Amino acid sequence: YVMPEKVSKGTPLEDIINKYDQPPNNEDMERVDKNSHALMILPFKFDLSLPNVEPGPINYEMGYFDRWENNYVRMPCSLYYTLKNNQPVWFTIREELGQLKKRCDAKLATFKDLQATIMRCAGNNYDTYCLELLITRIYVPEERIHFMSTVLSNICDLALNVNTFCSRSPPLLLAGKNHSVTMSQRQAASLLACAFFSLFPYRSQHEQTREYKNFQDPNFLQLYQYGPSQKIEKLRCILHYFQRITQRMPNGVITFQRFSLPESEHPKWPKSKAPLSPVHLTMNQKIEDIDCVLQVDFANRYIGGGVLGAGCVQEEIRFCICPEMLVSLLICEKMEPNECIFLIGCERYASYEGYADSFQFGGNYKDNTPKDNWGRKWCHVVAMDAIRFPDQRSQYNMKYIDRDLLKAYTSFYPQETKKKGNACFGIATGSWGCGVFNGDRQVKAIIQLMAASAAGRPLIYASYLDKKLVNSFFEVHQYLLDQKAEVRDLYRYLERYCGQPGRSESLFEYILRKPISSLKS
Ligand code: AR6
Repeated sequence: YVMPEKVSKGTPLEDIINKYDQPPNNEDMERVDKNSHALMILPFKFDLSLPNVEPGPINYEMGYFDRWENNYVRMPCSLYYTLKNNQPVWFTIREELGQLKKRCDAKLATFKDLQATIMRCAGNNYDTYCLELLITRIYVPEERIHFMSTVLSNICDLALNVNTFCSRSPPLLLAGKNHSVTMSQRQAASLLACAFFSLFPYRSQHEQTREYKNFQDPNFLQLYQYGPSQKIEKLRCILHYFQRITQRMPNGVITFQRFSLPESEHPKWPKSKAPLSPVHLTMNQKIEDIDCVLQVDFANRYIGGGVLGAGCVQEEIRFCICPEMLVSLLICEKMEPNECIFLIGCERYASYEGYADSFQFGGNYKDNTPKDNWGRKWCHVVAMDAIRFPDQRSQYNMKYIDRDLLKAYTSFYPQETKKKGNACFGIATGSWGCGVFNGDRQVKAIIQLMAASAAGRPLIYASYLDKKLVNSFFEVHQYLLDQKAEVRDLYRYLERYCGQPGRSESLFEYILRKPISSLKS
Protein backbone atom coordinates (compact mmCIF):
# COMPACT_ATOMS: atom_id res chain seq x y z
CA TYR A 1 0.00 0.00 0.00
CA VAL A 2 1.42 3.35 -1.02
CA MET A 3 0.31 6.32 1.04
CA PRO A 4 -1.23 8.92 -1.21
CA GLU A 5 1.07 11.87 -1.64
CA LYS A 6 0.00 14.84 0.44
CA VAL A 7 -1.03 17.65 -1.79
CA SER A 8 -2.64 20.86 -0.75
CA LYS A 9 -2.38 24.28 -2.31
CA GLY A 10 -3.79 27.76 -2.12
CA THR A 11 -4.90 29.59 1.01
CA PRO A 12 -3.87 27.51 4.04
CA LEU A 13 -6.76 25.77 5.78
CA GLU A 14 -6.01 27.71 8.98
CA ASP A 15 -6.76 30.94 7.17
CA ILE A 16 -10.20 29.85 5.99
CA ILE A 17 -12.90 31.21 8.26
CA ASN A 18 -14.47 28.42 10.28
CA LYS A 19 -16.76 28.09 13.22
CA TYR A 20 -14.03 28.90 15.73
CA ASP A 21 -13.75 32.31 14.18
CA GLN A 22 -17.50 32.58 14.26
CA PRO A 23 -18.86 30.63 17.19
CA PRO A 24 -22.42 29.69 16.31
CA ASN A 25 -24.86 31.41 18.58
CA ASN A 26 -28.36 30.59 17.57
CA GLU A 27 -31.22 32.59 18.89
CA ASP A 28 -33.11 31.10 21.77
CA MET A 29 -35.22 28.17 20.73
CA GLU A 30 -38.25 29.84 22.30
CA ARG A 31 -37.91 32.63 19.82
CA VAL A 32 -37.90 30.64 16.58
CA ASP A 33 -40.77 31.42 14.28
CA LYS A 34 -43.15 28.52 14.86
CA ASN A 35 -44.70 28.99 11.43
CA SER A 36 -41.51 28.10 9.64
CA HIS A 37 -39.74 25.99 12.23
CA ALA A 38 -41.36 22.99 13.87
CA LEU A 39 -39.86 22.01 17.18
CA MET A 40 -40.52 18.42 18.16
CA ILE A 41 -38.84 19.09 21.50
CA LEU A 42 -39.39 21.61 24.25
CA PRO A 43 -37.15 24.64 23.83
CA PHE A 44 -33.76 23.49 24.98
CA LYS A 45 -30.44 25.03 25.76
CA PHE A 46 -27.38 22.84 25.80
CA ASP A 47 -25.27 23.32 28.89
CA LEU A 48 -21.68 22.09 28.77
CA SER A 49 -21.69 21.61 32.53
CA LEU A 50 -24.72 19.29 32.34
CA PRO A 51 -23.81 17.13 29.35
CA ASN A 52 -26.35 14.42 30.14
CA VAL A 53 -29.49 16.51 30.09
CA GLU A 54 -31.72 15.54 27.21
CA PRO A 55 -34.39 17.67 25.56
CA GLY A 56 -37.91 16.38 26.15
CA PRO A 57 -40.64 16.00 23.53
CA ILE A 58 -43.34 18.62 23.22
CA ASN A 59 -46.78 17.59 24.48
CA TYR A 60 -45.38 14.74 26.50
CA GLU A 61 -47.99 15.08 29.24
CA MET A 62 -50.85 15.47 26.84
CA GLY A 63 -50.01 12.20 25.13
CA TYR A 64 -49.75 11.59 21.44
CA PHE A 65 -51.16 14.27 19.20
CA ASP A 66 -52.57 12.21 16.36
CA ARG A 67 -52.25 14.28 13.24
CA TRP A 68 -53.36 12.43 10.13
CA GLU A 69 -53.02 15.27 7.66
CA ASN A 70 -51.53 16.12 4.32
CA ASN A 71 -48.60 18.16 5.51
CA TYR A 72 -47.40 15.79 8.19
CA VAL A 73 -45.70 12.40 8.07
CA ARG A 74 -48.40 9.77 8.25
CA MET A 75 -47.25 7.86 11.28
CA PRO A 76 -47.61 4.11 11.74
CA CYS A 77 -48.97 4.77 15.24
CA SER A 78 -51.86 6.90 14.04
CA LEU A 79 -55.23 5.37 14.88
CA TYR A 80 -56.51 6.73 11.56
CA TYR A 81 -54.21 4.35 9.73
CA THR A 82 -56.50 1.38 9.45
CA LEU A 83 -57.04 -1.87 7.64
CA LYS A 84 -60.17 -2.60 5.62
CA ASN A 85 -62.00 -3.72 8.75
CA ASN A 86 -61.25 -0.33 10.38
CA GLN A 87 -58.87 -1.96 12.79
CA PRO A 88 -55.80 0.31 13.32
CA VAL A 89 -52.69 -1.21 11.78
CA TRP A 90 -50.87 -0.04 14.88
CA PHE A 91 -52.59 -2.75 16.95
CA THR A 92 -51.07 -5.40 14.70
CA ILE A 93 -47.67 -3.72 14.75
CA ARG A 94 -47.77 -3.47 18.53
CA GLU A 95 -48.63 -7.12 18.85
CA GLU A 96 -45.92 -8.22 16.41
CA LEU A 97 -43.15 -6.06 17.83
CA GLY A 98 -44.16 -6.88 21.39
CA GLN A 99 -43.78 -10.57 20.67
CA LEU A 100 -40.50 -10.17 18.88
CA LYS A 101 -39.18 -8.12 21.75
CA LYS A 102 -40.15 -10.85 24.21
CA ARG A 103 -38.25 -13.41 22.18
CA CYS A 104 -35.23 -11.11 21.98
CA ASP A 105 -35.25 -10.57 25.73
CA ALA A 106 -35.48 -14.31 26.30
CA LYS A 107 -32.57 -14.73 23.87
CA LEU A 108 -34.76 -16.93 21.70
CA ALA A 109 -35.25 -14.72 18.66
CA THR A 110 -34.06 -16.17 15.37
CA PHE A 111 -33.56 -14.48 12.04
CA LYS A 112 -36.76 -16.17 10.85
CA ASP A 113 -38.68 -14.42 13.63
CA LEU A 114 -37.29 -11.07 12.58
CA GLN A 115 -38.05 -11.74 8.94
CA ALA A 116 -41.61 -12.81 9.69
CA THR A 117 -42.16 -9.69 11.80
CA ILE A 118 -40.90 -7.40 9.04
CA MET A 119 -43.08 -9.16 6.47
CA ARG A 120 -46.20 -8.92 8.59
CA CYS A 121 -45.58 -5.29 9.54
CA ALA A 122 -44.61 -4.15 6.07
CA GLY A 123 -47.44 -6.14 4.56
CA ASN A 124 -45.64 -7.85 1.71
CA ASN A 125 -43.32 -10.66 0.83
CA TYR A 126 -40.11 -9.17 -0.46
CA ASP A 127 -36.91 -11.03 0.15
CA THR A 128 -34.54 -9.96 2.91
CA TYR A 129 -31.42 -11.50 1.41
CA CYS A 130 -28.92 -8.79 2.46
CA LEU A 131 -30.18 -8.56 6.02
CA GLU A 132 -30.14 -12.31 6.35
CA LEU A 133 -26.66 -12.69 4.92
CA LEU A 134 -25.32 -10.02 7.25
CA ILE A 135 -26.88 -11.36 10.41
CA THR A 136 -26.60 -15.07 9.81
CA ARG A 137 -23.35 -15.36 7.83
CA ILE A 138 -21.20 -12.28 8.17
CA TYR A 139 -21.64 -11.43 11.82
CA VAL A 140 -19.42 -13.52 14.08
CA PRO A 141 -21.46 -15.42 16.71
CA GLU A 142 -20.99 -12.76 19.42
CA GLU A 143 -22.17 -10.02 17.08
CA ARG A 144 -25.16 -12.06 16.01
CA ILE A 145 -26.18 -12.94 19.55
CA HIS A 146 -25.77 -9.34 20.68
CA PHE A 147 -27.78 -8.02 17.77
CA MET A 148 -30.58 -10.58 17.99
CA SER A 149 -31.07 -10.00 21.70
CA THR A 150 -30.03 -6.62 23.06
CA VAL A 151 -29.93 -4.43 19.96
CA LEU A 152 -33.04 -5.80 18.29
CA SER A 153 -34.97 -5.59 21.55
CA ASN A 154 -34.07 -1.90 21.73
CA ILE A 155 -35.10 -1.31 18.11
CA CYS A 156 -38.48 -2.87 18.97
CA ASP A 157 -38.75 -0.58 21.99
CA LEU A 158 -37.92 2.52 20.01
CA ALA A 159 -40.52 1.69 17.38
CA LEU A 160 -43.14 0.66 19.94
CA ASN A 161 -42.73 3.96 21.74
CA VAL A 162 -42.65 6.22 18.73
CA ASN A 163 -45.90 7.81 19.88
CA THR A 164 -44.30 8.70 23.22
CA PHE A 165 -40.93 9.88 21.95
CA CYS A 166 -42.40 11.72 18.99
CA SER A 167 -45.52 13.04 20.61
CA ARG A 168 -46.45 14.79 17.39
CA SER A 169 -45.68 13.75 13.86
CA PRO A 170 -42.95 15.63 12.01
CA PRO A 171 -44.18 18.03 9.33
CA LEU A 172 -43.22 17.33 5.74
CA LEU A 173 -40.74 19.79 4.25
CA LEU A 174 -42.64 20.51 1.07
CA ALA A 175 -41.21 22.06 -2.08
CA GLY A 176 -41.25 25.82 -2.45
CA LYS A 177 -41.27 26.60 1.25
CA ASN A 178 -38.62 27.68 3.70
CA HIS A 179 -39.09 25.56 6.75
CA SER A 180 -37.27 23.50 9.33
CA VAL A 181 -37.80 20.67 11.76
CA THR A 182 -35.79 20.22 14.93
CA MET A 183 -35.85 16.99 16.90
CA SER A 184 -33.77 15.13 19.45
CA GLN A 185 -31.44 12.32 18.45
CA ARG A 186 -33.72 10.00 20.41
CA GLN A 187 -36.68 11.03 18.27
CA ALA A 188 -34.63 10.43 15.14
CA ALA A 189 -33.71 7.00 16.49
CA SER A 190 -37.33 6.17 17.11
CA LEU A 191 -38.33 7.20 13.57
CA LEU A 192 -35.45 5.17 12.17
CA ALA A 193 -36.54 2.15 14.22
CA CYS A 194 -39.92 2.41 12.47
CA ALA A 195 -38.10 2.56 9.13
CA PHE A 196 -36.10 -0.52 10.18
CA PHE A 197 -39.39 -2.46 10.32
CA SER A 198 -40.67 -0.60 7.24
CA LEU A 199 -43.70 0.75 9.07
CA PHE A 200 -44.28 4.03 7.26
CA PRO A 201 -47.50 3.78 5.23
CA TYR A 202 -48.03 4.65 1.56
CA ARG A 203 -44.34 5.10 0.89
CA SER A 204 -43.14 1.80 -0.58
CA GLN A 205 -43.36 1.16 -4.28
CA HIS A 206 -46.16 -1.38 -4.03
CA GLU A 207 -48.48 0.96 -2.15
CA GLN A 208 -47.22 4.49 -2.81
CA THR A 209 -50.02 7.05 -2.93
CA ARG A 210 -50.07 10.25 -4.98
CA GLU A 211 -49.39 12.20 -1.84
CA TYR A 212 -45.88 10.73 -1.72
CA LYS A 213 -45.19 10.77 -5.44
CA ASN A 214 -42.31 13.23 -4.98
CA PHE A 215 -40.85 11.58 -1.91
CA GLN A 216 -38.32 8.92 -1.19
CA ASP A 217 -39.32 5.64 0.36
CA PRO A 218 -37.78 5.83 3.86
CA ASN A 219 -38.55 2.19 4.72
CA PHE A 220 -35.47 -0.02 4.91
CA LEU A 221 -37.08 -2.99 3.18
CA GLN A 222 -35.48 -2.06 -0.14
CA LEU A 223 -32.07 -2.24 1.44
CA TYR A 224 -32.73 -5.76 2.71
CA GLN A 225 -33.52 -7.07 -0.75
CA TYR A 226 -31.06 -8.99 -2.88
CA GLY A 227 -28.31 -6.82 -4.39
CA PRO A 228 -24.58 -6.14 -4.68
CA SER A 229 -22.22 -6.56 -1.73
CA GLN A 230 -22.08 -2.85 -0.98
CA LYS A 231 -25.69 -3.09 0.19
CA ILE A 232 -24.57 -5.43 2.92
CA GLU A 233 -21.80 -3.05 3.94
CA LYS A 234 -24.23 -0.13 4.04
CA LEU A 235 -26.59 -2.17 6.17
CA ARG A 236 -23.69 -2.99 8.42
CA CYS A 237 -23.09 0.73 8.98
CA ILE A 238 -26.75 1.29 9.80
CA LEU A 239 -27.00 -1.65 12.19
CA HIS A 240 -23.82 -0.40 13.81
CA TYR A 241 -25.67 2.84 14.48
CA PHE A 242 -28.44 0.91 16.24
CA GLN A 243 -25.83 -0.95 18.24
CA ARG A 244 -24.24 2.35 19.30
CA ILE A 245 -27.48 4.00 20.37
CA THR A 246 -28.40 0.85 22.29
CA GLN A 247 -25.15 1.12 24.17
CA ARG A 248 -25.81 4.77 24.91
CA MET A 249 -28.56 6.95 23.54
CA PRO A 250 -27.10 10.24 22.30
CA ASN A 251 -28.79 13.25 23.84
CA GLY A 252 -28.27 15.93 21.23
CA VAL A 253 -30.49 17.71 18.77
CA ILE A 254 -30.64 17.74 14.95
CA THR A 255 -32.31 20.05 12.45
CA PHE A 256 -33.48 19.57 8.88
CA GLN A 257 -33.89 22.85 7.05
CA ARG A 258 -35.34 23.31 3.61
CA PHE A 259 -34.24 26.49 1.94
CA SER A 260 -35.78 27.99 -1.14
CA LEU A 261 -34.03 31.03 -2.63
CA PRO A 262 -36.53 33.76 -3.47
CA GLU A 263 -36.49 35.13 -7.00
CA SER A 264 -35.42 38.57 -5.73
CA GLU A 265 -32.17 37.07 -4.44
CA HIS A 266 -31.15 35.26 -7.65
CA PRO A 267 -27.82 36.76 -8.74
CA LYS A 268 -27.43 38.52 -12.06
CA TRP A 269 -24.30 36.66 -13.09
CA PRO A 270 -23.33 38.78 -16.13
CA LYS A 271 -23.31 41.86 -13.89
CA SER A 272 -21.77 40.51 -10.68
CA LYS A 273 -18.66 42.44 -9.67
CA ALA A 274 -17.91 40.23 -6.67
CA PRO A 275 -14.19 39.47 -6.32
CA LEU A 276 -13.10 35.83 -6.26
CA SER A 277 -13.07 33.98 -2.95
CA PRO A 278 -9.90 32.45 -1.54
CA VAL A 279 -9.56 28.73 -2.25
CA HIS A 280 -7.83 25.95 -0.35
CA LEU A 281 -7.21 22.87 -2.46
CA THR A 282 -6.56 19.44 -1.03
CA MET A 283 -6.37 15.92 -2.37
CA ASN A 284 -5.75 13.98 0.79
CA GLN A 285 -8.84 14.95 2.76
CA LYS A 286 -12.40 13.94 2.18
CA ILE A 287 -15.23 16.41 2.62
CA GLU A 288 -16.53 14.75 5.78
CA ASP A 289 -13.11 15.08 7.39
CA ILE A 290 -12.95 18.85 7.04
CA ASP A 291 -14.38 20.20 10.30
CA CYS A 292 -16.17 23.35 11.19
CA VAL A 293 -17.24 24.43 7.72
CA LEU A 294 -20.30 23.83 5.57
CA GLN A 295 -19.85 20.40 3.97
CA VAL A 296 -21.47 19.64 0.64
CA ASP A 297 -23.51 16.50 0.01
CA PHE A 298 -23.45 15.66 -3.72
CA ALA A 299 -27.12 14.94 -3.61
CA ASN A 300 -29.93 13.59 -5.69
CA ARG A 301 -33.00 15.79 -5.92
CA TYR A 302 -34.63 12.95 -4.04
CA ILE A 303 -32.45 13.37 -0.97
CA GLY A 304 -30.36 10.35 -0.09
CA GLY A 305 -30.36 9.10 -3.67
CA GLY A 306 -29.83 5.36 -3.75
CA VAL A 307 -28.86 5.01 -0.10
CA LEU A 308 -31.52 2.35 0.51
CA GLY A 309 -30.99 0.85 -2.94
CA ALA A 310 -27.76 -0.08 -4.66
CA GLY A 311 -26.14 3.41 -4.79
CA CYS A 312 -22.85 3.75 -2.99
CA VAL A 313 -21.10 7.00 -3.84
CA GLN A 314 -20.55 10.21 -1.90
CA GLU A 315 -24.12 10.90 -0.72
CA GLU A 316 -25.04 7.32 0.04
CA ILE A 317 -21.82 6.74 1.97
CA ARG A 318 -22.37 9.90 4.01
CA PHE A 319 -25.88 8.85 4.96
CA CYS A 320 -24.68 5.41 6.03
CA ILE A 321 -21.93 6.69 8.29
CA CYS A 322 -24.33 9.35 9.68
CA PRO A 323 -27.67 7.45 9.66
CA GLU A 324 -29.64 10.24 11.35
CA MET A 325 -29.50 11.88 7.93
CA LEU A 326 -31.88 9.15 6.75
CA VAL A 327 -34.71 10.96 8.56
CA SER A 328 -34.58 13.45 5.68
CA LEU A 329 -35.92 10.74 3.35
CA LEU A 330 -39.00 10.61 5.52
CA ILE A 331 -39.74 14.32 5.51
CA CYS A 332 -38.27 15.98 2.40
CA GLU A 333 -40.03 16.38 -0.90
CA LYS A 334 -37.79 16.37 -3.97
CA MET A 335 -35.76 19.55 -4.49
CA GLU A 336 -36.41 22.25 -7.06
CA PRO A 337 -33.52 24.07 -8.81
CA ASN A 338 -33.65 26.98 -6.32
CA GLU A 339 -33.70 24.73 -3.27
CA CYS A 340 -31.34 22.91 -0.99
CA ILE A 341 -31.63 21.04 2.30
CA PHE A 342 -29.43 21.54 5.34
CA LEU A 343 -28.71 18.59 7.63
CA ILE A 344 -27.55 20.07 10.90
CA GLY A 345 -26.07 18.28 13.89
CA CYS A 346 -26.11 14.69 12.63
CA GLU A 347 -23.54 12.50 14.32
CA ARG A 348 -21.09 10.22 12.59
CA TYR A 349 -20.99 6.66 13.93
CA ALA A 350 -18.95 4.62 11.46
CA SER A 351 -15.65 4.67 9.59
CA TYR A 352 -15.36 3.24 6.13
CA GLU A 353 -12.92 2.10 3.50
CA GLY A 354 -13.18 1.93 -0.25
CA TYR A 355 -15.75 3.53 -2.50
CA ALA A 356 -18.65 2.28 -4.64
CA ASP A 357 -18.05 -1.46 -5.35
CA SER A 358 -15.20 -1.61 -2.87
CA PHE A 359 -17.03 0.23 -0.06
CA GLN A 360 -16.70 -1.43 3.34
CA PHE A 361 -17.80 -0.68 6.88
CA GLY A 362 -14.58 0.28 8.67
CA GLY A 363 -15.54 -0.02 12.33
CA ASN A 364 -16.66 2.39 14.98
CA TYR A 365 -16.18 6.15 14.70
CA LYS A 366 -16.14 8.41 17.72
CA ASP A 367 -17.46 11.80 16.74
CA ASN A 368 -15.99 14.50 18.94
CA THR A 369 -17.56 17.47 17.18
CA PRO A 370 -18.56 20.05 19.80
CA LYS A 371 -22.18 21.16 20.20
CA ASP A 372 -23.86 24.51 19.67
CA ASN A 373 -26.18 26.11 22.24
CA TRP A 374 -29.11 24.04 20.95
CA GLY A 375 -27.20 20.82 21.56
CA ARG A 376 -26.53 20.20 17.89
CA LYS A 377 -23.15 18.90 16.79
CA TRP A 378 -21.47 21.62 14.87
CA CYS A 379 -21.77 19.70 11.67
CA HIS A 380 -23.51 21.49 8.84
CA VAL A 381 -24.10 19.60 5.63
CA VAL A 382 -25.94 20.97 2.62
CA ALA A 383 -27.61 18.61 0.18
CA MET A 384 -27.40 20.07 -3.32
CA ASP A 385 -28.18 18.20 -6.49
CA ALA A 386 -26.29 18.85 -9.72
CA ILE A 387 -27.77 18.17 -13.12
CA ARG A 388 -27.27 14.66 -14.37
CA PHE A 389 -25.87 14.44 -17.90
CA PRO A 390 -26.55 11.06 -19.49
CA ASP A 391 -24.68 12.47 -22.48
CA GLN A 392 -21.57 14.28 -21.31
CA ARG A 393 -21.40 16.48 -24.40
CA SER A 394 -24.75 18.11 -23.72
CA GLN A 395 -23.54 20.00 -20.65
CA TYR A 396 -21.89 22.93 -22.46
CA ASN A 397 -25.09 24.90 -22.59
CA MET A 398 -25.73 28.09 -20.63
CA LYS A 399 -29.19 26.86 -19.70
CA TYR A 400 -27.59 24.07 -17.65
CA ILE A 401 -24.77 26.27 -16.37
CA ASP A 402 -27.32 28.80 -15.09
CA ARG A 403 -29.25 26.05 -13.37
CA ASP A 404 -26.22 24.69 -11.52
CA LEU A 405 -25.05 28.21 -10.67
CA LEU A 406 -28.42 28.87 -9.07
CA LYS A 407 -28.29 25.59 -7.17
CA ALA A 408 -24.77 26.22 -5.88
CA TYR A 409 -25.56 29.82 -4.93
CA THR A 410 -28.74 28.75 -3.11
CA SER A 411 -26.70 26.25 -1.11
CA PHE A 412 -23.87 28.68 -0.34
CA TYR A 413 -26.18 31.63 0.37
CA PRO A 414 -24.96 33.24 3.58
CA GLN A 415 -28.18 33.13 5.56
CA GLU A 416 -26.89 33.99 9.00
CA THR A 417 -24.52 36.73 8.03
CA LYS A 418 -26.90 38.48 5.67
CA LYS A 419 -28.53 39.58 8.88
CA LYS A 420 -25.43 40.27 10.92
CA GLY A 421 -23.20 41.58 8.20
CA ASN A 422 -19.96 39.73 8.97
CA ALA A 423 -17.92 37.24 6.98
CA CYS A 424 -19.17 33.72 6.68
CA PHE A 425 -17.50 30.38 7.29
CA GLY A 426 -16.02 28.34 4.47
CA ILE A 427 -17.53 25.64 2.28
CA ALA A 428 -15.97 22.21 1.78
CA THR A 429 -16.84 20.77 -1.59
CA GLY A 430 -15.20 18.94 -4.48
CA SER A 431 -16.12 17.41 -7.80
CA TRP A 432 -19.85 17.97 -7.33
CA GLY A 433 -21.91 16.41 -10.11
CA CYS A 434 -18.80 14.90 -11.71
CA GLY A 435 -19.08 11.24 -10.78
CA VAL A 436 -22.33 9.43 -11.39
CA PHE A 437 -23.79 12.64 -12.85
CA ASN A 438 -21.09 12.97 -15.50
CA GLY A 439 -20.25 16.66 -15.16
CA ASP A 440 -17.04 18.31 -16.36
CA ARG A 441 -14.78 18.83 -13.33
CA GLN A 442 -13.35 22.11 -14.60
CA VAL A 443 -16.74 23.58 -15.41
CA LYS A 444 -18.11 22.58 -11.99
CA ALA A 445 -15.04 24.02 -10.26
CA ILE A 446 -15.66 27.39 -11.93
CA ILE A 447 -19.40 27.27 -11.19
CA GLN A 448 -18.77 26.60 -7.50
CA LEU A 449 -16.06 29.26 -7.35
CA MET A 450 -18.50 31.78 -8.80
CA ALA A 451 -21.26 30.80 -6.37
CA ALA A 452 -18.93 30.94 -3.35
CA SER A 453 -17.55 34.30 -4.48
CA ALA A 454 -21.01 35.79 -4.99
CA ALA A 455 -21.90 34.52 -1.51
CA GLY A 456 -18.68 35.98 -0.08
CA ARG A 457 -17.46 32.68 1.33
CA PRO A 458 -14.11 30.90 1.05
CA LEU A 459 -13.97 27.55 -0.69
CA ILE A 460 -12.20 24.37 0.30
CA TYR A 461 -11.87 22.07 -2.66
CA ALA A 462 -11.39 18.44 -1.73
CA SER A 463 -10.57 16.95 -5.06
CA TYR A 464 -10.36 13.43 -3.68
CA LEU A 465 -7.23 11.79 -5.10
CA ASP A 466 -7.24 13.95 -8.22
CA LYS A 467 -3.87 15.65 -8.06
CA LYS A 468 -4.19 17.00 -11.55
CA LEU A 469 -7.24 19.02 -10.61
CA VAL A 470 -5.58 20.44 -7.48
CA ASN A 471 -2.70 21.71 -9.57
CA SER A 472 -4.67 22.98 -12.51
CA PHE A 473 -7.41 24.65 -10.46
CA PHE A 474 -4.74 26.32 -8.36
CA GLU A 475 -3.00 27.63 -11.46
CA VAL A 476 -6.23 28.98 -12.95
CA HIS A 477 -7.30 30.56 -9.66
CA GLN A 478 -3.94 32.33 -9.33
CA TYR A 479 -4.13 33.50 -12.92
CA LEU A 480 -7.62 34.89 -12.34
CA LEU A 481 -6.62 36.60 -9.08
CA ASP A 482 -3.62 38.19 -10.80
CA GLN A 483 -6.00 39.77 -13.27
CA LYS A 484 -8.41 40.85 -10.55
CA ALA A 485 -11.15 38.76 -12.06
CA GLU A 486 -14.74 39.33 -10.98
CA VAL A 487 -17.57 36.84 -11.02
CA ARG A 488 -18.98 38.34 -14.21
CA ASP A 489 -15.67 37.63 -15.99
CA LEU A 490 -15.99 33.95 -15.19
CA TYR A 491 -19.51 34.01 -16.52
CA ARG A 492 -18.20 35.44 -19.75
CA TYR A 493 -15.54 32.72 -19.97
CA LEU A 494 -18.26 30.10 -19.62
CA GLU A 495 -20.41 31.75 -22.28
CA ARG A 496 -17.53 31.98 -24.72
CA TYR A 497 -16.35 28.48 -24.00
CA CYS A 498 -19.81 26.96 -24.43
CA GLY A 499 -20.37 29.01 -27.56
CA GLN A 500 -17.46 27.43 -29.38
CA PRO A 501 -18.56 24.91 -31.99
CA GLY A 502 -16.04 22.11 -31.36
CA ARG A 503 -14.19 22.33 -28.08
CA SER A 504 -10.70 20.97 -28.57
CA GLU A 505 -9.33 22.33 -25.30
CA SER A 506 -10.51 22.13 -21.70
CA LEU A 507 -12.13 25.10 -19.95
CA PHE A 508 -8.98 25.74 -17.91
CA GLU A 509 -6.82 25.71 -21.05
CA TYR A 510 -9.25 28.11 -22.65
CA ILE A 511 -9.13 30.49 -19.66
CA LEU A 512 -5.34 30.37 -19.48
CA ARG A 513 -5.09 31.19 -23.18
CA LYS A 514 -7.45 34.20 -23.03
CA PRO A 515 -6.62 37.19 -20.84
CA ILE A 516 -9.67 38.80 -19.26
CA SER A 517 -9.10 41.97 -21.27
CA SER A 518 -9.70 40.00 -24.48
CA LEU A 519 -13.20 39.03 -23.28
CA LYS A 520 -14.44 42.57 -23.03
CA SER A 521 -14.17 43.32 -26.71
N1 AR6 B 1 -14.96 13.76 -0.49
C1 AR6 B 1 -14.55 14.45 -1.60
N2 AR6 B 1 -14.79 14.04 -2.84
C2 AR6 B 1 -15.47 12.90 -3.02
C3 AR6 B 1 -15.93 12.13 -1.93
C4 AR6 B 1 -15.64 12.60 -0.61
N3 AR6 B 1 -16.04 11.94 0.46
N4 AR6 B 1 -16.57 11.06 -2.42
C5 AR6 B 1 -16.51 11.15 -3.75
N5 AR6 B 1 -15.85 12.26 -4.13
P1 AR6 B 1 -20.67 11.46 -6.86
P2 AR6 B 1 -22.46 13.22 -8.41
C6 AR6 B 1 -15.59 12.73 -5.50
O1 AR6 B 1 -20.60 10.57 -8.03
O2 AR6 B 1 -21.76 13.04 -9.70
C7 AR6 B 1 -25.56 9.75 -5.72
O3 AR6 B 1 -26.28 8.61 -6.11
C8 AR6 B 1 -15.29 11.59 -6.45
O4 AR6 B 1 -14.26 12.03 -7.30
O5 AR6 B 1 -21.13 10.91 -5.57
O6 AR6 B 1 -22.96 14.57 -8.04
C9 AR6 B 1 -26.51 10.88 -5.41
O7 AR6 B 1 -27.63 10.43 -4.69
C10 AR6 B 1 -16.57 11.45 -7.22
O8 AR6 B 1 -16.35 10.96 -8.52
O9 AR6 B 1 -21.56 12.77 -7.15
C11 AR6 B 1 -26.87 11.35 -6.76
O10 AR6 B 1 -27.90 10.56 -7.33
C12 AR6 B 1 -17.11 12.85 -7.26
O11 AR6 B 1 -16.74 13.39 -5.98
C13 AR6 B 1 -25.60 11.17 -7.55
O12 AR6 B 1 -24.84 10.19 -6.84
C14 AR6 B 1 -18.61 12.94 -7.45
O13 AR6 B 1 -19.26 12.09 -6.55
C15 AR6 B 1 -24.78 12.42 -7.60
O14 AR6 B 1 -23.67 12.21 -8.39
